[in-house]
Amino acid sequence: VQIVQCRSKQLAVMSKPRFDGKVVIVTGGASGIGEAMARLFAASGATVVVADIQDALGEALAASIGPPCTYARCDVTDEAQVEATVAAAVAAHGRLDVMLSNAGILLLTGSVTDMDLSALDRVMAVNFRGAAACVKHAARAMVAAGTRGAIVCTGSVACVQGGYGPASYTASKHALLGLVRSAAGELGRHGVRVNLVSPGGVATPLSIAVAGMGVEEMEAMTEAGSLLRGKVLRADDVAEAALFLASDQAGYVSGHNFVVDGATTVA
Ligand code: NAI
Repeated sequence: VQIVQCRSKQLAVMSKPRFDGKVVIVTGGASGIGEAMARLFAASGATVVVADIQDALGEALAASIGPPCTYARCDVTDEAQVEATVAAAVAAHGRLDVMLSNAGILLLTGSVTDMDLSALDRVMAVNFRGAAACVKHAARAMVAAGTRGAIVCTGSVACVQGGYGPASYTASKHALLGLVRSAAGELGRHGVRVNLVSPGGVATPLSIAVAGMGVEEMEAMTEAGSLLRGKVLRADDVAEAALFLASDQAGYVSGHNFVVDGATTVA
């Protein structure tokens, strides 16, 4: 905490948000951006439930973070699993304060003229429908308990622009933006905030597999495409933005698409 003197009063400013006593679910939490979120929220005092379909990775992460962090298998394309994960978190910890709806996939579905529509369905099922299930069941739990909770969905620069990945991915993220805006409007009267954190390119298993290059090569490419020089976007940067959005410091921020892309999409 940095203390500044202001007319003889001491004001505490720039304190990092704390989540002591708060319960957080992070979907897609076993890898990449979700893993960074799980680690940061846990380090900030939260009880974190890592929800994913990669059991070995998720269990290893929860063990490495340590209690009270746990792993829950949760395929977000199955609404019953999302509902059960929320219910289990509330039963185990007494509350749900934050839902980080982060699980996502990117499939190479081809150009629009030869798009694989069954693959498009799979992308929508995870990135859009899965997020809708997370928003729905997290919001239900928060409203029922009277919790002024926060929901943060991981969007993308593809929420607002074409050309960042195949049309299926872009469409799923545009749809997610609409969901978040609508949910924020509806849930405001319950004190529940809903926002997006929208990264530019981050070297994670998702992007590395699609780009077909190594971490260093991908980071060099994304830095070259960014308008903000001298820094590479990493999963930790995205997690920090999500931490702010979920915190009381962002208590009047809702329905916002918080872009973390080094100004790439403003050009
Ligand atoms: P990642 O592949 O490292 O992590 C995604 C996680 O989601 C994995 O652990 C995976 O098992 C999990 N997952 C996939 N399908 C699931 C399902 N049906 N149910 C539950 N979990 C599931 O990828 P990354 O990059 O960390 O992606 C996280 C989010 O960030 C995604 O929503 C992605 O669209 C978004 N994003 C990523 C960017 C990047 O450059 N890496 C840029 C912009 C957005």
